[in-house]
Amino acid sequence: MIFDKDKLSIFNKEETPFYYYDIELLERTLDAAKSAADKRNFHIHYALKANFNDRILAVIQSKGFGADCVSGNEVQKAIDVGFPASQITFAGVGKSDKEISTALRHNIFAFNVESIQELEVINELAIKEGVKANVSLRINPNVDANTHHYITTGLDENKFGVPNTELEKAASVLEDCTHINLVGLHFHVGSQILDLEVFKNLCIKVNQWKGWFEDRGITIKVINVGGGLGVDYNQPDNHPIPDFESYFDVFDKFLDRTAGQEVHFELGRALVAQCGSLISRVLYTKSGAKKNFLILDAGMTELMRPALYQAYHKIERIGADENVPKLHYDVVGPICESSDSFGKDIELPISNRGDMIAIRTAGAYGEVMASRYNLREEIRYFYSE
Ligand code: LLP
Repeated sequence: MIFDKDKLSIFNKEETPFYYYDIELLERTLDAAKSAADKRNFHIHYALKANFNDRILAVIQSKGFGADCVSGNEVQKAIDVGFPASQITFAGVGKSDKEISTALRHNIFAFNVESIQELEVINELAIKEGVKANVSLRINPNVDANTHHYITTGLDENKFGVPNTELEKAASVLEDCTHINLVGLHFHVGSQILDLEVFKNLCIKVNQWKGWFEDRGITIKVINVGGGLGVDYNQPDNHPIPDFESYFDVFDKFLDRTAGQEVHFELGRALVAQCGSLISRVLYTKSGAKKNFLILDAGMTELMRPALYQAYHKIERIGADENVPKLHYDVVGPICESSDSFGKDIELPISNRGDMIAIRTAGAYGEVMASRYNLREEIRYFYSE
């Protein structure tokens, strides 16, 4: 995705800030992921939480992906845009009774259940609805994802999944749940994982726990290993599409599969991050004793990741001439918080009021995490084509 003078003349007609989605790159990314998965007979559920923009969902649905949801509204949205219920999973540590009932009525592929109490509640609600609930047990495997601690989920200290010390009890509760059908096991250790060794370690733990259940005569039809594959925030143009082949290879090599056993994934970021950019204009520039500031019309209300996780997103001037001298800027937003900063000491062509800035790799956990803090405008978006 090149932000040259042609793009500048297109963007210049639009009110900023807005998300720009490159649909052609999205399609190429999805095709690469799908073909790498199909080759190995793997199934991908797209994690809606990364981006539930209507057009993005329509493209993903049209390519035959399933959906991974974390709220009743996401389940309903997935159904509304045409994902078959038989390809929808529903995870989350705190599913409300209302959300569970919605998913039961749709007869989704599986609830990823995160506690023993949740198993009992789903069973009770399934009895009430007169249906059987399909369930995968989410096990906390205690694998370190080596990523930001806010997006690490698979350690003993994290709130996610059934603690592995409780599995004996979970297996016995399952026997008593007349309206639950156990389809498989679920794992997810974290997000933005670039070290493939982490996934190898996950496979080793999955094999152990799968064996533990099978030794007790419990059939495991589906192994869901979650999502988490990271993207290159530093060089989006060098790596616009993640290396899905190497990622799936790890699971192909290290995961034990018995005949008929299915392997499912829940990828979010890797599918949608690179196709999105946040486009903004410089409102003001100012220079103090220590700093030069570029004050943008986009802030943490449009893209929260830098403020929340100190996340790096590449910042570019759109359509700048190559010979413009450069300066170091702190690139900040208009919100009344000092954390409202997109980057410090960023080298950019000398910029002025009205110049356009792209904040890259913003297609995942960008638009969906936007807020109206400071009573900001609703976020706008715009697609290629
Ligand atoms: N499955 C489960 C159970 C999850 O909790 C997540 C993400 C995914 C799948 C998808 O993970 P992905 O493939 O996108 O890494 N807001 C944070 C990311 C939070 C991820 C939460 N769970 C960020 O902006 O980095």
